[in-house]
Amino acid sequence: MPKVITIASQKGGVGKTTTASNLASGLALRGKQVVVVDLDPQGQVAITLGLSPEPGVFNLMVGGLLLNQVLRASGRPNLWLVPGDKRTGTAQIVLQAEGHSITQAVRESFIAPWNGQPDFVIFDTAPSVGGFQEAALAVADLVIIPAATDHLALFGVKGLVETLASLVKSGQWRGQALALPTFYDEVTRQSQLSLKSLITQLEQVHFPVLTPIHRATALREATAEGKAIFEYAPTSRAAQEYAALIWKVLEEV
Ligand SMILES: Nc1ncnc2c1ncn2[C@@H]1O[C@H](COP(=O)(O)OP(=O)(O)OP(=O)(O)O)[C@@H](O)[C@H]1O
Ligand SMILES: [Mg+2]
Repeated sequence: MPKVITIASQKGGVGKTTTASNLASGLALRGKQVVVVDLDPQGQVAITLGLSPEPGVFNLMVGGLLLNQVLRASGRPNLWLVPGDKRTGTAQIVLQAEGHSITQAVRESFIAPWNGQPDFVIFDTAPSVGGFQEAALAVADLVIIPAATDHLALFGVKGLVETLASLVKSGQWRGQALALPTFYDEVTRQSQLSLKSLITQLEQVHFPVLTPIHRATALREATAEGKAIFEYAPTSRAAQEYAALIWKVLEEV
């Protein structure tokens, strides 16, 4: 069975998709076989990898296609994508209307069919609660919660920590979770304070906080060019910081 990593936050624009695609390409560069699944109706994962959004998730979950029919090669060794688009939202509504367990549907669609390969399935999720996002948490061995330190970082993380706690309580989840500070800029007092408060508050609930990813123009440019940071600016600080995340992930799972 592949190891499952879910990237989630209730807050928008905190670096979820950037983290999902860079983590995926970094693991692939280290020889791991990786499939990224885009559960966000915005369909941005495809774009960050230089591909086009498609109704892959919809076609697999409710359209009767098989996993190998919706799986797309990323053009890089070891890395594949199940793309999404706005019809992902329709898939969720259809499954809910038909009374299916979304968690079971996610497991059966993206995790259960594999036999030996890949090493990792990585879910990118929408900035919301419930539905596909909660299902992707329930099936995860590791949850990474990006938290933008240019805002009140804790704000976006708190709801997720509560959702995870309730999944633990109801016996639906036994994975691990890590918060990843993003958009860090030690020059600004806001960023420093935000990081400090994130660490203090999450320590109280024994929730680890990773080394921050700095705000970096190279990351924005890489996204716009459809490239991973390891392809666009391999010697940049951003590439080093994401490489450190990959080592951490390999240690944890
Ligand atoms: N550390 C960073 N420094 C600078 N820009 C970044 C950083 N991380 C992400 N970005 C840029 O910020 C924008 C939002 O990032 P991203 O799409 O990863 O966020 P998201 O949490 O997935 O957003 P959404 O909630 O809309 O799905 C993108 O243009 C991305 O390139
Ligand atoms: Mg996103």
